Amino acid sequence: MDQQLLDLGLQTINNGGFAGLWNGQGPEQVILTPVDGTELARIKTCTKAECKQIMACCQQSFSSWRQIPAPKRAEVIKSLGEALQDHQENLAYLITIEMGKTLQEARGEVQEMIDICDYAVGLSRQISGPGLQSERRMHRMFEQWHPLGMVVVITAFNFPMAVWAWNAALGLVCGNVILWKPSYKTPLCAIAVTRIAAHILQKHRVDPAICSLVTGKGSEIGDILTSGKKVALVSYTGSVRGGRHVARLVSERFGKLILELGGNNAVIVSDKGDQTIAQRAISFGALGTAGQRCTSTRRAIIHSDIYEPFKEKLLEAYRATRIGDPRDSKHFMGPLVDQAAVAVMMTAIKQIRKEGGTILYGGECLKLPGGCYVSPCLVEAHPDMPIIQEETFAPILYLLSYKTLEEAIAIHNNVPQGLSSSIISDSLMESERFISDLGSDCGIANVNTSTNGAEIGGAFGGEKETGGGRESGSDAWKAYMRRQTNTINYSGTLELAQGLELIHL
Ligand code: UN1
Repeated sequence: MDQQLLDLGLQTINNGGFAGLWNGQGPEQVILTPVDGTELARIKTCTKAECKQIMACCQQSFSSWRQIPAPKRAEVIKSLGEALQDHQENLAYLITIEMGKTLQEARGEVQEMIDICDYAVGLSRQISGPGLQSERRMHRMFEQWHPLGMVVVITAFNFPMAVWAWNAALGLVCGNVILWKPSYKTPLCAIAVTRIAAHILQKHRVDPAICSLVTGKGSEIGDILTSGKKVALVSYTGSVRGGRHVARLVSERFGKLILELGGNNAVIVSDKGDQTIAQRAISFGALGTAGQRCTSTRRAIIHSDIYEPFKEKLLEAYRATRIGDPRDSKHFMGPLVDQAAVAVMMTAIKQIRKEGGTILYGGECLKLPGGCYVSPCLVEAHPDMPIIQEETFAPILYLLSYKTLEEAIAIHNNVPQGLSSSIISDSLMESERFISDLGSDCGIANVNTSTNGAEIGGAFGGEKETGGGRESGSDAWKAYMRRQTNTINYSGTLELAQGLELIHL
């Protein structure tokens, strides 16, 4: 086993369940690296019964954690951020080797975790509600925010650590306890992070069950986690299909829910924009993380006057993209997460051809160890190809052309998802229109930058089938708390609102 993984406390066989103590009595899972297909380690996953026990322990830890004042909770989160920084290189290495993104991007992911810890520390003294004007004399009306309880965080393979951190740092500082169910594809990342968190919590004499972990197949243990009556909030990042299932179970019991589902993100390349910025933003958007970000650029909507030269510019960038071992800094693109992901991409390529799309570049499985490497695919498409409506989690970019901005916006919005979007234009009028209510219908709308690579300080999430949830910055913390409206009467008599009188009483 690599020294970096040993330094994170990982072993050949690892327990996949944690709520103060490590356990794992379920089926053993073998983790293969997409880098070269070799075995990384094994996980003893959790049984259903263990999940229930872990949920109970996690729930119990709420009673003490909620009573610690938020700025004191923040001291623990500050230490967590520092510990993540100390381990940044090893954690990045683990992300790279378990799911295949390049080391550069993996370091960026750990940086997002460090940044959100900082954010939560600042937030701890700013959680506040407004004082409201009462219509009654000598009454005070105001709002408070209280912790929710146990938050179940279900994360995807593509950000195997950071999605937990966005939820956990905010959730914890708000006084909640966190139960993490990572993707079945990336349990080692979750075990390593939970080990670090547990160490910090023990150092601060806090019940380590406030950062609990269960691993296993979503199809086996997912429903126990999402339908549990004691689960105050489910934060789910994953597919639209998965989100629909989770939403049904959670809304059945009126539970709270944050959904972070698929994207189908586009960049509009205006004839009034800087083509070099456009090419660089789209290359990062479409090729970064091998097209496996929910914010990945999937469509480029290009003005017809510059379509041909811009297509050539993109082709040049695609030809120059070096693909290979993601640990080697000369490679910009590593493998897809596993062979199943490659198969999904190849099926999509067949479908593209069937629907009349022209493959301009790539879309092939490369003969590299492990069988998870592909060449990124550029497709000349037309707006009514049904496959454009879908999010294929792979580096496939559809090129479309437009004549007027109205047409570009119509093409842009004509998909079921609504996560991220961008326009490359130096025209104030065009960019303002794009971000106005008449423009992009996404949760994120950018000008002259990429669809992906959002900063943690903004609220992250999207509309339509993306699910409507928001995580990370701005006032996303409100989703992790319950709002309470308070009215206090200090008048010495009882006055009713709306001018009502208590007659004969
Ligand atoms: C995701 O792909 O699930 O904006 C999240 C970005 C990253 C987050 C992506 N900060 O690309």
